[in-house]
Amino acid sequence: MTSKDIRISFLRYFKEKQHVIVPSSPMVVKNDPTLMFTNAGMNQFKDWFLGNAPAQYKRVADTQKCLRVSGKHNDLEEVGHDTYHHTMFEMLGNWSFGNYFKKEAIEWAWEYLTDVLKIDKNRLYATVCEASPEDGVEMDSEAFDIWKQYLPEDRILVGKKKDNFWEMGDTGPCGPCSEIHYDSRSDEERAKVPGRERVNADDPQVIEIWNLVFIQYNRKVSGELEQLAAKHVDTGMGFERLCRIVQGKTSNYDTDVFQPIITKIGELCGKRYGDDTSCDVAMRVVADHLRAISFSIADGQLPSNVKAGYVIRRILRRAVRYGYTFLGFNEPFICRLVPTLTEQMGDAFPELKAQQTLIEKVIREEEQAFLRTLEVGIRLLDSIIEKLKKSGTNEISGKDAFQLYDTFGFPIDLTELIAREKNFAVNNADFEQELEIQKNRSRNAAAKEEGDWTEVRKIEQSVFVGYDTTGSTSYLARYRTVKTKGKEFIQVVLDETPFYAESGGQVGDCGTLRSQENGETIQVLNTIKENNLSIHLVEKLPQQLTAPFTATVDVEKRMATACNHTATHLIHYALRKVLGTHVEQKGSLVHADYLRFDFSHFQKVTDEELEQVERLANRLVRKNTTLTEFRNIPIAEAQQMGAMALFGEKYGETVRVIRFDDSVELCGGTHVPATGNIGVIKIVSESAVGAGVRRIEAVTADKAEEYLYDNIHLLKMVHELFSNSPNLIQAIKKTIEENGEFSKQIQLFMRERIASLKERLKDEIEEINGIQVIRLNTDVQAEAVKELATQMRTGSTNLLFVAGTIHADKPNLVISLSDDLVKKGLNAGAIVREAAKEIGGSGGGQAFLAMAGGKQTDSLVKAINKAVEIATKM
Ligand code: SER
Repeated sequence: MTSKDIRISFLRYFKEKQHVIVPSSPMVVKNDPTLMFTNAGMNQFKDWFLGNAPAQYKRVADTQKCLRVSGKHNDLEEVGHDTYHHTMFEMLGNWSFGNYFKKEAIEWAWEYLTDVLKIDKNRLYATVCEASPEDGVEMDSEAFDIWKQYLPEDRILVGKKKDNFWEMGDTGPCGPCSEIHYDSRSDEERAKVPGRERVNADDPQVIEIWNLVFIQYNRKVSGELEQLAAKHVDTGMGFERLCRIVQGKTSNYDTDVFQPIITKIGELCGKRYGDDTSCDVAMRVVADHLRAISFSIADGQLPSNVKAGYVIRRILRRAVRYGYTFLGFNEPFICRLVPTLTEQMGDAFPELKAQQTLIEKVIREEEQAFLRTLEVGIRLLDSIIEKLKKSGTNEISGKDAFQLYDTFGFPIDLTELIAREKNFAVNNADFEQELEIQKNRSRNAAAKEEGDWTEVRKIEQSVFVGYDTTGSTSYLARYRTVKTKGKEFIQVVLDETPFYAESGGQVGDCGTLRSQENGETIQVLNTIKENNLSIHLVEKLPQQLTAPFTATVDVEKRMATACNHTATHLIHYALRKVLGTHVEQKGSLVHADYLRFDFSHFQKVTDEELEQVERLANRLVRKNTTLTEFRNIPIAEAQQMGAMALFGEKYGETVRVIRFDDSVELCGGTHVPATGNIGVIKIVSESAVGAGVRRIEAVTADKAEEYLYDNIHLLKMVHELFSNSPNLIQAIKKTIEENGEFSKQIQLFMRERIASLKERLKDEIEEINGIQVIRLNTDVQAEAVKELATQMRTGSTNLLFVAGTIHADKPNLVISLSDDLVKKGLNAGAIVREAAKEIGGSGGGQAFLAMAGGKQTDSLVKAINKAVEIATKM
């Protein structure tokens, strides 16, 4: 069976068991502060597990793109070194929401593996969870008994809690799990050591393939477990591992999921997979990371310096580094693997195909930049080694190793590798210490403590009414305390809320909650979204929690934000009209004061194009088209209307569509009733965000008016400065030309003046203590005096030139010395510094020529005399 067949067979099997097949949610998570990337199939159903919203379906199955590179589940460092861990992988899963439980979950898993895929029953093992006295939970004998119907008892293992109690994070839904393991060792090895001894023992040939989680608890902040009202099933099977077993391989990388990529890498570097251990590891790293990076970019996450973008950048750098060190790549190569990946996975994941060019460009640029950094880092490391050699040490300090790691992305093993080649060691312990210090720093900066929710009123779901109204009577459903950076906030959930929660790039609403019982008014500082739950950040907890509250949205901010949101749609529409349909939204920020829109486009948008976009968008504003909103229509219907689904966004079966004439978008934001409300749109900047992505910033309504007035006022002032000349441009040009002409003349004049001064000064030489001294007190510009000082010393001997000049009310001192005096030890810099004190100034320069500026013009003669005195006394 090919991997494509296996994927289809899984979904078909569960469809036949009445499961609804849903699409994979994006790999990059939005609206969940606890997660950067999807790390399990169940993430997209968190709200259903937590009871924040009723489950839409009772049974679901899918294949989910996952990335385990940060947080609780992080496999990054293992990847490549073994043959069965990945950063990005597909997780096949089936779910029951308060429907079937352990019996069916186990029965169907068994049937699918052994009947449908015909996997050898004798090589399968199951684990069940041991007792956990600290949680007050007994061993999972229920699962054990069910397994007895399918497996002999000696192949059912009571597993450790660390492997058999699944938790998504520190808090949240969790429960005991039952894992299915497969033993792919040879008959000979199996006869020697029974498989049960190799389960969960890091044997690369005895691996877990499927995890059946029986979600029945919620872990609270205190660590306590709380029974959930309904019991659920959450299963996850590693697709790549399953392919390996079905295809009879001993490594995931030998399956058709990875082989085309590995072959391509081999072609590009001229090496063969299987010939050399280090090269094999590197090829696996590159093949794995290529998928992680490409899928992230396809889901809208570009490499960057912060958060999720930084994680992606680090994965990419790890791949570049392995390719560079072990496969001999010193030119971008990962980008050249993208077509092979697209061919392999583009059918199941169309986001790859549709964005292939963008993915290639982004990766190429990142690779280029990092290869440059690598070279600089290697040079730095070489110079560190050279310096150490001179001092007789052969150990690189932890501090240096850490700098290479932190600034140049050199993992410690790369530093060690290069060091070893030169017979150097690295102080690992100190490096680890530096790393720990950094980790603590960022941990403290990001530390956020959330308390458990306290329920005030039981609700099924918090309802958003803000599309229709900006005020409502609402009740508090629950609240909790959140501490960030030493500050304490209260978060509340309402049964019904008119406050828009920050999402889809649009900022959250603020406003007030006024108790209808005692009139107490509480400020709502912001509204955010966690998964699909609207959470209000309030200044304090109200005195009467159960009172009805009048919830009022700050309408001015809401309206300003709406103007910017609608304007974003109009600009998006205009960009596609003017630049072409390759333009796709890559990011958006809708603020009350401005909007920011990122989109794919491969070169700078010219001023003319920008003007066309702006004019078109403003024509749509003037048309005053009214908003048409379709609140709940099937996604297919929305697409027929012309709405474009964005990659990296999660859509339900039904969606909301916002239409202003031909601009049709899938959107959850708030908009103006008619485009005329916007008044005017003004684009204020266009710039690059990265390879293939541009950014436009614009203002609307009052802010656009302010922007235009600022510019008009500026222009008016310029007009006035040019005496309201009827042809302003001509007048400015003329002034610039005249200015140039004057400068030239001044220079000429200066040169002549210097020449005549020079002649005159020759007659004014005094001799003091055997030194020829020239003093000058003038009003020529300091720069011209400097030129004169240079000319005076050139070709002279035994000459000290000291000049003071007052120009534009500022005193300056210039001193030059002939070379022979410098050789004798005189220093113009030292002299000028000392003499400048007389004019309340300071300065410096070279030994033969130095300058100083000061404040007191009256004392200039004193300063000149002081300089002469110092120089002639030395
Ligand atoms: N959530 C479980 C896991 O990730 C099963 O899907 O292993």
